Amino acid sequence: MVASVGFIPNPQAVLLLAACRTPKPDRLPGGRETRQAGRVFLVGSGPGNPELLTLRAARVMQQADVVLYDHLVAPEIVEMVRDGAQRIYVGKERSNHALPQEEINHLMVALALQGKCVLRLKGGDPFIFGRGAEEIETLARYGIPFEVVPGVTAATGVAAYAGIPLTHRDYAQACVFVTGHLKDGTMNLDWEALARPNQTVVVYMGLLGLPLLCQQLIKHGSPATTPAAAVQQGTTNKQRVVTGTLETLPLATFKAGIKPPTLIIVGEVVKLREQLAWFEPRADWETAAIESLIDPVRA
Ligand SMILES: C[S@@+](CC[C@H](N)C(=O)[O-])C[C@H]1O[C@@H](n2cnc3c(N)ncnc32)[C@H](O)[C@@H]1O
Repeated sequence: MVASVGFIPNPQAVLLLAACRTPKPDRLPGGRETRQAGRVFLVGSGPGNPELLTLRAARVMQQADVVLYDHLVAPEIVEMVRDGAQRIYVGKERSNHALPQEEINHLMVALALQGKCVLRLKGGDPFIFGRGAEEIETLARYGIPFEVVPGVTAATGVAAYAGIPLTHRDYAQACVFVTGHLKDGTMNLDWEALARPNQTVVVYMGLLGLPLLCQQLIKHGSPATTPAAAVQQGTTNKQRVVTGTLETLPLATFKAGIKPPTLIIVGEVVKLREQLAWFEPRADWETAAIESLIDPVRA
């Protein structure tokens, strides 16, 4: 059954799932060819600023019967989904999952088999540390039609709003995205490769393990003076940026009380922020602008 240790179930999602148990792919009523399946849109909602949604995302948000959305999807974006669409929160924060991944996969299948147009709304891009592949693998197994709508991933969106170009002819000819998620208190990364010069390393989910990350990079050859930044809630009106070096950043972020979601950027490009920072977080979202963005796609 759904309720087990390790997550706090969202009662609405659990009830829905229980009500529409997914049959095995080979036991679908009417067989694969004849049944009337709905459709699933796996959509990246970008790093939080509604202005960074793609036009395709805004359009399919107006077609959905039901939306399953994640923790990192901004409330302003959930608000933009078609009035009347059912809204289901499915998680997931670190160690607090509204619904485990497998149950989310099956809920999508079950809803699509009821003929619904399902919007699976995820933070950033669904294929970058988003488990999007697992979700559509399940859909593919059940023969459910789906479309993937890419989103602006945190690395590109957050870096742009922090005034940090990820590549630069003089400083970084490569850029690597890694997950800093701690497993059993450690990070299983190719430290030699990450410590190479002339590249930028972008770390998703790296805040908790930041001291370990900096320590390992230094141990494997990065100068302790390598510039590094932590960007909290980048692109949004709550954006906060702390800069330092591999040596100083862990303490600086701790002192500043930086919280997730935070992206870590390591490399010489970070120092360009001194000249290139352009974004001033503002408390008032330009809601009128957002409305004017969504109106043309409502038709
Ligand atoms: C599970 S990953 C999902 C990434 C997402 N699929 C993407 O493409 O951006 C979540 C991590 O992305 C990063 N992240 C996402 N949005 C962010 C934001 N607005 N500001 C800073 N970091 C962000 C954080 O490191 C966070 O822990």
